[in-house]
Amino acid sequence: MAGVLGGLPNSVLQFVYLIASVLFIQGLRDMTHPRTATRGNGISSLGMLLAVVVTVLWFEIASPLVLGAALLVGGAVGAWLAVTVETTEMPQLVGLFNGFGGGASALVAGAELVDRVVTGSGLPVGVTATAAIAGIIGAVTFWGSLVAAGKLHGVVGDSPVSSTVGHGIKVVTLAAAVASGVVLVAQPGFVGGAPVSSYWVLVAAASVLGIFLVVPIGGADMPVVIALLNSYSGLAAATTGFVLGNTVLIVAGTLVGASGLILTVIMCESMNRSLVNVLFGGLGGDDEMEDMPDIYEGSISETSAEEVEMLLDVADRVVIVPGYGMAVAQAQHAVAELAELLEEDGVDVEFGIHPVAGRMPGHMNALLAEADVPYDKMRELEEVNPTFSQTDVVIVTGANDVVNPMANTDDSSPIAGMPVLEVGEARSVVVNKRSLSPGFSGIPNPLFAEDNTSMLFGDAKASMQELVNVYKENR
Ligand code: TAP
Repeated sequence: MAGVLGGLPNSVLQFVYLIASVLFIQGLRDMTHPRTATRGNGISSLGMLLAVVVTVLWFEIASPLVLGAALLVGGAVGAWLAVTVETTEMPQLVGLFNGFGGGASALVAGAELVDRVVTGSGLPVGVTATAAIAGIIGAVTFWGSLVAAGKLHGVVGDSPVSSTVGHGIKVVTLAAAVASGVVLVAQPGFVGGAPVSSYWVLVAAASVLGIFLVVPIGGADMPVVIALLNSYSGLAAATTGFVLGNTVLIVAGTLVGASGLILTVIMCESMNRSLVNVLFGGLGGDDEMEDMPDIYEGSISETSAEEVEMLLDVADRVVIVPGYGMAVAQAQHAVAELAELLEEDGVDVEFGIHPVAGRMPGHMNALLAEADVPYDKMRELEEVNPTFSQTDVVIVTGANDVVNPMANTDDSSPIAGMPVLEVGEARSVVVNKRSLSPGFSGIPNPLFAEDNTSMLFGDAKASMQELVNVYKENR
C-alpha cells in the first residue's frame, strides 16, 4: 500500500528511512559539542520529521491535510514550551517528553495487537512477545516519568522513602505484568474473539510498577532517574519498532536507548555513585546535616562586594566556578559581564565547570553560552584543576558540592571519591551563596571555613550584579 506516495516501490520507503537514520546519527554526533549542539538538534529533528511524514503518507495513516494540521498544532505547542519553560525546569520537561514517548510506544503496540485481532491477520509469537516488552517498558516509563517530573516540579513529595509495602507492591505488579505477558504470548487464540485483554492488564500492572519504582527515590536524584527513563523510552520505541516491523523506529529507539544509558553512566560516575545506589540509596534527603558537628563555628569570614573588588583589582588570573545557585538565581549574565570587564582590564579569566554542577548535564555550559561566554573559556575539571595553584582569585557562585574538599578527605561522606574542583589551591577563594546551607548532598563544606576563603553572602544574581557595579565604579 502506498497512499499519496502511490506506486513507489518499497525500496524508496526504506531509502528514506535510511536517510532519516543517517540524520539521527549525524545529529547525535553534533550534539557532543556545545558549539554544534544546536545544529545537531535541528538535523535530528529534520530526520524525525522526514520519518513521520513519509510513514504517515505511505501507510495512509492520515490525509496530508490532517498531517499538516497535526504538525502545526504540535509545532505550536513545542514553540510555546521552548519560549516559556525556564532553563532550570528543563529536566522535568525532558522527563515529560520521555514519558510521552514511553506511553506512545505502549499505546501503539496495543493498537497493533487490536488491529491484528480485528483484521484477523494473526498474532505470531514475535509480535505478541515484543508487544509485551514494549507495553511493560512503555508503561513504566510513562508513569515513572510523570512521578519524576512531578518531584522535580515540587508537586510530588521529593523525600526518599523506603517501605516494605512499597517493595511488596513492586514485586506483585512486576509478577502480574510478566504473567500477563506470558498469557498474551501463549494464547494467540484470542484472534477473532475477545480483545487482547491480557495486554491491557499488563499495561495496568506495569503502570503501578512505574509509579512505585520512582516514588521512593529522593527528588535530588531525579536527573539521573530521568536519564535512565530516557533510555527506557528508547527501548520501548525500538521494541514497538519490532512489533510494527518499522526499521526507522528501531533505529531511533536504539539510539535513544543507548545514549540515555551512556548519559546515566556518565552522571553516576561523575558523582562517584553506582546506579544501584542512586535507585535504592536514598541520597538527597534532609537528614544528613542533623548529626554534623558545627565545623563553621568561629571560622567563617564574611566579605563584601567592595572587598572582592579590591582582590580582583590586583589579580592576574581569575577562575569563576558556577553551580546550581547560579541557575536558580539566573546570574549567568551578571557573571559573564564581570568576566568581560576583567578581561578588558587584562585579567586572564576562565570558568571551571564540573561535569555535574547544577542539576542536569551541561547545565552550566548551556547557561553561560546563553550569556555569550565563549566556549574556549569554559574549562573542564581535569583541565582547570592543575591551574588553581597559579590562580589569584576563584569566585564560586552558587556552587557547593562540586567544590567540597570532603570528597577527598572523608571516606564516609556521601560524596566520597567524587572528583571535585580543588579551588582551595588558589590564593583567595570567594564563595557566593545565600547562607551556609548545604547543597544537593546535604553535608557541610569545610572549604567555607578555610583561611583563604571568604563568604560573599547573597543571591547570586544580586551579588554578581553588585560586584559588577562596584568594579565599574572603581575602574
Ligand atoms: P549544590 O551542591 O546543590 O549547591 C548549590 C548551592 O547553591 C546551595 O548550597 C545553595 O546555598 C546555593 N544557592 C541556591 N540558590 C541560590 C541563589 N539564588 N543564589 C546563590 N546561591 C544559591 O550545587 P553544585 O555545587 O552545582 O553541585 C551539584 C550537585 O547536584 C552535586 O552534588 C551533583 O552530584 C548533584 N547532581 C547533579 C546532576 C547534574 S547532571 N548536574 C544530577 C543530579 C545530581 P544557599 O541556600 O546557602 O544559597
